[in-house]
Amino acid sequence: MFNVLVPDNVHQNAIDILEASAGISVSAPGKMERADLLEAVADAQGLIIRSGVTADAELFAVAPQLKAIARAGVGVDNVDLAAATAQGTVVMNTPGGNTISTAEHTLGLMIALSRHIAPGHQSLAEGRWERKAFTGVELKGKTLGIIGLGRIGQAIATRAQAFEMTVIAHDPYLPPAVADAINVPLLALDEVFARSDFLTLHAMITDETRGMIKADTIATMKEGVRIINAARGALIHSADLAAALKSGKVAGAALDVYEQEPPPADHPLIGLPNVLHTPHLAASTSDAQITVAVEAAQLIVNFLLGGKAANVCNPAVISS
Ligand code: MLT
Repeated sequence: MFNVLVPDNVHQNAIDILEASAGISVSAPGKMERADLLEAVADAQGLIIRSGVTADAELFAVAPQLKAIARAGVGVDNVDLAAATAQGTVVMNTPGGNTISTAEHTLGLMIALSRHIAPGHQSLAEGRWERKAFTGVELKGKTLGIIGLGRIGQAIATRAQAFEMTVIAHDPYLPPAVADAINVPLLALDEVFARSDFLTLHAMITDETRGMIKADTIATMKEGVRIINAARGALIHSADLAAALKSGKVAGAALDVYEQEPPPADHPLIGLPNVLHTPHLAASTSDAQITVAVEAAQLIVNFLLGGKAANVCNPAVISS
């Protein structure tokens, strides 16, 4: 019998799949305190996590039997892949399941930012009628720069084209034919920075991308650029962006993600008048949560019961 622990709120359909699989015993207590998690994971062979669970060296040290982790979502920056590999634990993710939800949220942030929807709502809710203060800009005719033209970036590109935006992108890893097929020119990073009226980030955190939005790159952007980040908080140097928002160099920013989640109360970007925030909601639709949870459950079942791995994020573990 394989024990699978689900220490976060994942859709019931995933639990049903696990429970219906002969040979698997499921424990799904919902979101767990760290100390309880470290105790419960000791006899788990499988683990299904979302971004709220950190699978680090401390966790692997107390989980000697752990054979597989399935991440219900895309990012595995909350998993220490080297520690997983050292322990022989395969880490798998569900890269397609929340593409559309994340793309739609990004478009929602872009429209809300350009039309001051959140402050306009707040002002009226507080009894004021302030039309002049909330004059916005159209998307039509503006240039959208997409940093990272993967699944999510491509879904944003085609939707932004429907708004009659000019879409350009930077992605050093994408085969040019993929970008050609959706009529998006792949350009050098500095050219995307220099030409964009709106800039949206969809890159993973690497040594190259960490803090890529910082004082000296912001300086190369257009006056009044608007920046949207629904990828990972660490792509942005927060203090530098705050300074650029205060000076007006950056007209607005819409942020769904933060280096630390939840962000501390004294985070330099929280509460600035030209910043729109959501609490890491981009993938939080019932549609996406069902898809990623079901895919994650299937990954665990196929691996534990059938020895088949898919969407492996630490391929060295297979060859070792
Ligand atoms: C992801 O990486 O899949 C998204 O950021 C959503 C999440 O972390 O839950």
